[in-house]
Amino acid sequence: MQHAWNMSMLLSLFALVAPVPTFAHILGPNHAWGGRSSNIVQKDVVVIGGGAAGTYATVRLQQEGKSVALIEKKNRLGGHVDTYIDPTTGNPFDYGVIYYGNSSVTRNFFDYVGVEMESSLQEKTQVYANFNTGAKVANSVVANETGNFQAAIGAWMKQLEKYPWLTDQTGFHLPATIPEELFLPFGEYIEKYNLGGFTTLLSYTAQQGNLLETPTFYFMKWLNIPSSGFGGIWQKDQNNQKIYDAAFNKLGGASNVYLSSKVDAVRRNSWGVEVCFSTPSGQYIVRASQLIMAIPPKIDNLGFLDISSTEQSLFMQLQNNYISTGVVLNSGLPDASVVINFDTTQPFGIPPAPVNPVLSGASLISNAAFTQWASPNYTSPDAIEAGMLADVDRLQKSLNFTVPAGTKPTLAQVSDHSPYFIHVSEEAIKSGFYDKVNALQGQKRTWWTGATFESEDTANIWNFTNVEILPRVLKA
Ligand SMILES: Cc1cc2nc3c(=O)[nH]c(=O)nc-3n(C[C@H](O)[C@H](O)[C@H](O)COP(=O)(O)OP(=O)(O)OC[C@H]3O[C@@H](n4cnc5c(N)ncnc54)[C@H](O)[C@@H]3O)c2cc1C
Ligand SMILES: *[C@@H]1O[C@H](CO)[C@@H](O)[C@H](O)[C@H]1NC(C)=O
Ligand SMILES: *[C@@H]1O[C@H](CO)[C@@H](O)[C@H](O)[C@H]1NC(C)=O
Ligand SMILES: *[C@@H]1O[C@H](CO)[C@@H](O)[C@H](O)[C@H]1NC(C)=O
Ligand SMILES: *[C@@H]1O[C@H](CO)[C@@H](O)[C@H](O)[C@H]1NC(C)=O
Ligand SMILES: *[C@@H]1O[C@H](CO)[C@@H](O)[C@H](O)[C@H]1NC(C)=O
Repeated sequence: MQHAWNMSMLLSLFALVAPVPTFAHILGPNHAWGGRSSNIVQKDVVVIGGGAAGTYATVRLQQEGKSVALIEKKNRLGGHVDTYIDPTTGNPFDYGVIYYGNSSVTRNFFDYVGVEMESSLQEKTQVYANFNTGAKVANSVVANETGNFQAAIGAWMKQLEKYPWLTDQTGFHLPATIPEELFLPFGEYIEKYNLGGFTTLLSYTAQQGNLLETPTFYFMKWLNIPSSGFGGIWQKDQNNQKIYDAAFNKLGGASNVYLSSKVDAVRRNSWGVEVCFSTPSGQYIVRASQLIMAIPPKIDNLGFLDISSTEQSLFMQLQNNYISTGVVLNSGLPDASVVINFDTTQPFGIPPAPVNPVLSGASLISNAAFTQWASPNYTSPDAIEAGMLADVDRLQKSLNFTVPAGTKPTLAQVSDHSPYFIHVSEEAIKSGFYDKVNALQGQKRTWWTGATFESEDTANIWNFTNVEILPRVLKA
């Protein structure tokens, strides 16, 4: 340790008198400060991560008159948004994030960046089948095994009302004692409160990958009233990337937003924050008075940070699931239809992980569909692609999809969305994990937002960011 410090000091001292272009290279990514060629940028706030949370925070701060730099590793904003563009027709197909809870927070954002939203998508014909066997499951069997949909929704709303402190979209403000029933595996909670009827909706959106075992606590946090898809809104052209491209432009484009960029190092001091990062057009150092972290805060994604022992001890407890989505061409799935994975051997038909919950047809592209792969455990990309294609093959045969002679299903795109559903153990929740996380806010001039701090839902995350984070950043 002592040696590294001396070495680094020596080298950066040397850099002052004799600028050698290869210093950043010699010193490695965490010692990039000496680089003479760095462009220095001064901003009020620097945001790392341009997904839902980071883009929203940047837009709102700029609206409030702050200068902001946003640093994103991908070549576009939007994070979990994935919009496939058909090369022939140019028509879009969203196969990542699809809809948004219709709240004032989301509506205001869409209005401000100037994208049009609408309230309903084309209805799709729903068919149920066991993806592992291909066997079709009759709608009457599904109804019998799950129960009445409307009744279950009503019952779920009653449960949500019991726990406003969990479902109010403002992060985790937990009572000293959390009712035990919230730690029931969701499968048991469904039984206890007769919620079976809404499991057909759940399996459709079951990206957790182990729905029946997920603690009710997290499920309730996620599927609250405005976010549950009842009252959702969609981008009018079914092109969610448009929302984030519009935000990019609204933010002043490349003069404030750094795409395809890699954060090399962050230093936080009493007088400010410095972020050193590499872009395709060279290295930059941005100096700001506050830092917003809007990336998944898994330890292996924080290597650039001058991490504190408290941050380290909290973020090392985070667990996550894995999910990938893919665009399948030539499956033969009839247009405007969806096949939902339903396993009659499992409670409420919910298939066990690893799970491909759905094969869902595109509205604007013929013979294209999206499919997913979710699991609490890592699966290799090859195995995921093979699994997706095997499912499609089985469904094609058993559901008699017609495919033009000589064509077979192919994956046009596969997108890895891991880490997903970042959470901690029941023990960690009970021993005050989220209180300790809340206490981190503002420490070392750093603010944390994103799904980890609220739930995997854009409207929830935006409300949390708007209510809990931004007013404090503006005051800091
Ligand atoms: C397949 C799928 C479908 C979904 N569908 C919906 C839906 O229909 N409606 C809904 O409300 N929610 C949906 N969600 C939930 C979604 O995760 C949240 O709505 C929201 O997008 C999460 O926002 P975030 O900002 O926390 O994370 P992200 O959107 O993932 O943003 C994190 C960003 O940080 C970037 N990043 C990561 N590491 C670094 C780094 N080291 N340096 C710089 N940048 C970095 C990433 O590239 C990414 O852009 C879906 C999720 C998935 C996976
Ligand atoms: C956002 O959070 C605030 C504060 O808790 C709450 O009053 C509001 O209902 C939330 N949701 C929306 C959609 O604004
Ligand atoms: C969203 O909700 C508002 C307020 O309830 C409503 O007026 C509006 O029509 C909804 N928007 C869409 C696109 O459904
Ligand atoms: C309905 O479900 C019950 C209990 O799961 C089962 O015994 C019965 O055979 C089912 N009926 C039909 C028509 O599937
Ligand atoms: C995930 O891994 C754990 C530990 O190896 C194992 O017990 C579990 O069965 C796996 N779950 C799935 C769904 O593969
Ligand atoms: C598929 O076709 C076969 C043979 O014509 C038929 O027996 C079967 O019932 C069909 N399956 C479906 C799901 O329609």
